[in-house]
Amino acid sequence: MPRSPDVLPLSDAIGRRFEYLRLSLTEVCNFRCTYCLPDGYKKPCQRPAELTVEEIRRAVTAFAQLGLWKVRLTGGEPTLRRDFENVASAVSSVPGIRRVAMTTNGYRLAERAQAWRDCGVNAINISVDSLDPARFAAITGHDRLGEVLRGIEAARDAGFESIKLNAVLMRGVNDDELAAMVQFVTTRDLSLRFIEVMRTNDNTAFFDRHHVAGQSVIDRLEAAGWKRLPRAAGAGPAVELGHPHAKGRIGIIAPYSRDFCASCNRLRMSSDGKLHLCLFGDGGIDLRPLIAADDPAPLITRIRAVVGTKAPAHRLHSGNSGATPHLASIGG
Ligand code: 5AD
Ligand code: SF4
Repeated sequence: MPRSPDVLPLSDAIGRRFEYLRLSLTEVCNFRCTYCLPDGYKKPCQRPAELTVEEIRRAVTAFAQLGLWKVRLTGGEPTLRRDFENVASAVSSVPGIRRVAMTTNGYRLAERAQAWRDCGVNAINISVDSLDPARFAAITGHDRLGEVLRGIEAARDAGFESIKLNAVLMRGVNDDELAAMVQFVTTRDLSLRFIEVMRTNDNTAFFDRHHVAGQSVIDRLEAAGWKRLPRAAGAGPAVELGHPHAKGRIGIIAPYSRDFCASCNRLRMSSDGKLHLCLFGDGGIDLRPLIAADDPAPLITRIRAVVGTKAPAHRLHSGNSGATPHLASIGG
């Protein structure tokens, strides 16, 4: 990626390079997905204030000066922030940021897709865990599948460069829908990502009941003629498959597979300005005081130093989910 020659790429002790920042804009969500916030978002007694648009602009500028060129706006549900469009415009106008993506549950997508695209968002991931309306409602707590599907059409009309559907794989919930979902992207120019449910501190019983290994899906797809696509430069840990007769593609995100962390290219920042080196790490490093200072140099130095300490891999295999209560807290 082009960056000024005097900028050393941001990398860690084992040589992984970081080009991609996932930025949580809020931990608030209006859905109640069974694997994430089954009882809905509960405001803690002391919720730290979310970064302002100006703080986000400063933080992203520092990351861009370290060579990051892709930002994902996530949450919680990022679009619940009243100033979401200002945030998106601010991030997309930071020099060096060439790709702005967002993850949404699809709420209000049908009405706002064009506006979000016009704010400079290039890519959008939409959560669709079931194509059956009653199941969708049971999983998310909202009977809105039709609305979300209309939103996907609106996103296509708005000209997003990439549209991906996220489906969390759950045994006994949606694992019988694999064929229908595959059919959905066979006839449409969309990417579908099957995501293994991840164990967080709040969902251990759910995880034990519903986790399905992504490899079993890869095996079924390969048996049906899907082929692994070569890994694109800068690609993250997803395995991608295509089929000669399919318009769309399928990705599998299997964090419990071997070597998943070896291709990690991402950093995360929580909505209150804490840098998380791993989804399943401990705590988070508070960058807010340095962001507030509006002198990028100490912020850049700190980010580089902290990233150098990133652990080689998560400890999920030994049952350690780190300090993450649910993914809404630091971005799914
Ligand atoms: N396991 C897997 N994916 C999750 N997400 C949220 N929580 C989990 C979890 N425990 C992902 C879903 C959703 C996105 C916003 O975050 O893919 O689509
Ligand atoms: Fe990267 Fe952590 Fe995810 Fe592994 S679990 S891929 S180290 S963020």
